[in-house]
Amino acid sequence: MTESIPVSLGNRSYSIHVGPGLLADVGRLLKPLAHGPVPVVTDANVAPLYLDRVISALRAHGIDSCPIELDAGEGTKSFRHLEKLTSALLASGVGRDGLIVALGGGVIGDLTGFAAGILKRGIDFAQVPTTLQAQVDSSVGGKTAINVAEGKNLIGVFHQPRIVLADTEVLTTLPAREQRAGYGEVVKYGVLGDRAFFEWLEANGNKALDGDPAAMAQAVATCCRMKAAIVARDERESGERALLNLGHTFGHALEAATGYSDRLLHGEGVAIGMALAFRLSVKLGLCPGQDAERFIRHLKAVGLPTEISDIPGGRPTAQELVEHIGHDKKAKGGTAVFVLLRGIGDAFLTQDVPVDAIQAALG
Ligand code: NAD
Ligand code: GLY
Repeated sequence: MTESIPVSLGNRSYSIHVGPGLLADVGRLLKPLAHGPVPVVTDANVAPLYLDRVISALRAHGIDSCPIELDAGEGTKSFRHLEKLTSALLASGVGRDGLIVALGGGVIGDLTGFAAGILKRGIDFAQVPTTLQAQVDSSVGGKTAINVAEGKNLIGVFHQPRIVLADTEVLTTLPAREQRAGYGEVVKYGVLGDRAFFEWLEANGNKALDGDPAAMAQAVATCCRMKAAIVARDERESGERALLNLGHTFGHALEAATGYSDRLLHGEGVAIGMALAFRLSVKLGLCPGQDAERFIRHLKAVGLPTEISDIPGGRPTAQELVEHIGHDKKAKGGTAVFVLLRGIGDAFLTQDVPVDAIQAALG
């Protein structure tokens, strides 16, 4: 059973299709958008698993494709790989009225979306996300970017995809740690605005992670519905969309302090970041302690880290983390923006957090 979720953005509206087995339907779903050869951009891990399936599904509907395989990993979101990708796209013969497919996790989606946004002043692209993180977050909403020495995601454009195809069956080949890290983003949706979904996750989260297809499809679809609604109300993040950064101000500081290494995956940083946001909210008298405890209990139940000391290889100092927070790209007018909580399902934005409270939360 697949579900189709609209993202309502006027003439840039599109649908997110969610469900098991969608890859087989890629040809039919992309046919109305494909004019000429379709480049399919993917990475070296995803290619042996799913590229042939996508190419055959396109061919079955008379669509010629041109595979472009890039290195896997965050390092691919770079100017060097952007240049390599844009050259390959130009060589593929894709026209201004053509379509580019991003088949992979957030790295491939962010890089391909950016390339599509600037190639020939903008070409349509389709997101076919293959990680849990990408299915519930990065493939939806049109944020695209690469990283530079000055920081992550600092060079990019808003470029909405024409369609998102989230085949939840492909998540079964994800390494367990990647799957759990993506789950950090899933819980985020419950915590930031849907207490009933959080309660559903308490009952069904482990079932979804253990491969129950219906539970996983339901979890992904619920997140996508929520993200679609937020993006439709605030496409350019002038307000509400920033709630999706819950756990990210602390999480990014932790990622930076651990050198964006294997010591801490993005979703793990977000999980610890959300736990810190809860503790800070309790300390500031904004949130009942039992909500923070309940949230942290759930993260532990699914095997996600909740403490800075859970990060292997030495604990970053509070001072170091405060400095990284000061450099956060989400700072407005030089002051970091925090997403804090009044409880599970009730997040809000504030720049009014005393530095000593932040330091204490990180200490
Ligand atoms: P990723 O793209 O690096 O994928 C993680 C790993 O899983 C990679 O090694 C990949 O090759 C492998 N993989 C992907 N699909 C697989 C599958 N089905 N089976 C087996 N292996 C598979 O990581 P990610 O977490 O998907 O994305 C992270 C990126 O997303 C970051 O760069 C982050 O900045 C970005 N992001 C963007 C947004 C946005 O709104 N644009 C939001 C959140 C995160
Ligand atoms: N991942 C945050 C956003 O899309 O706004």
